[in-house]
Amino acid sequence: MSTDWEALYQKGDTGWDKGEPSPGLVDFLAAHSEFPRGKALVPGCGRGHDVRAWAAAGFDATGFDLAPSAVRDSNDRIAKEGLSAKARVLEGNFLEDQPITQFDWLFEHTLYCAIQPAQRDAYAAAAARWLKPGGQFLAIHYLIPDTEGPPFGCTRDEVVARFASRFELLGEWTPRSYPNRTNLELALRWRRT
Ligand SMILES: C[S@@+](CC[C@H](N)C(=O)[O-])C[C@H]1O[C@@H](n2cnc3c(N)ncnc32)[C@H](O)[C@@H]1O
Repeated sequence: MSTDWEALYQKGDTGWDKGEPSPGLVDFLAAHSEFPRGKALVPGCGRGHDVRAWAAAGFDATGFDLAPSAVRDSNDRIAKEGLSAKARVLEGNFLEDQPITQFDWLFEHTLYCAIQPAQRDAYAAAAARWLKPGGQFLAIHYLIPDTEGPPFGCTRDEVVARFASRFELLGEWTPRSYPNRTNLELALRWRRT
C-alpha cells in the first residue's frame, strides 16, 4: 500500500525528521573539500536539511519531494538561511519524472527505505537517469530487518546487487549517525558508469 506522505507532513507525523542533516553527510562534506562544487540532487529530501548542507558546502543543491508541504517548508528554511542562490526544492516524483537536468552528485538518505520495496528497481533506474555519466552517487542506507514499513529494511548485499549493473562502487564505510541509528547505517559511494 502506498504512503500518503503529504498527510503525514500535515499531521506532523514525521518521526524520521531529526531537524538536522545526516551526520554521515556532514562528515563526508567536511572531509572532501577537494571535490569540484557541481550540482547535487537530494531526492525525497523532506524538509531539506541535507539540501541545505550541500548548499552550505558550496554545491548547487536541488531537492525533490512529492509532498507539497515539505517542499514549501524546505524553501522557507532555505530562504531564512540565506541560501536561495545555491539551493531550491522542487515538487515531483523522483521515480517517474524525467530529469530537469543531469546532476554531478546524487544523495540518498531515507528515500530508498521509504518507498515500497517493489519500487527499488525503478529507484536504481532513476538514479542512473538523473546523474551525468561519471557522476557520483553517495548513499546512506538504513540496514534494519523491517519488512512492514516504511521504513523498509535492506541489506548491504541487496543494495550492492541492485546498483552494480549501472554504477561502479568506489567505497563503503559505517557513517556517523543520529543516536538512534548508530551502527545501523551503511554509506556507499558509487560512480555512474
Ligand atoms: C522518510 S521521509 C525522509 C525525508 C528526508 N530524507 C529526511 O531524512 O528527513 C521520505 C521522503 O520521501 C518523499 N518521497 C517518497 N516517495 C517519493 C518519490 N517517489 N519522489 C520524491 N519524493 C518522494 C516523501 O514525501 C518524504 O518526504
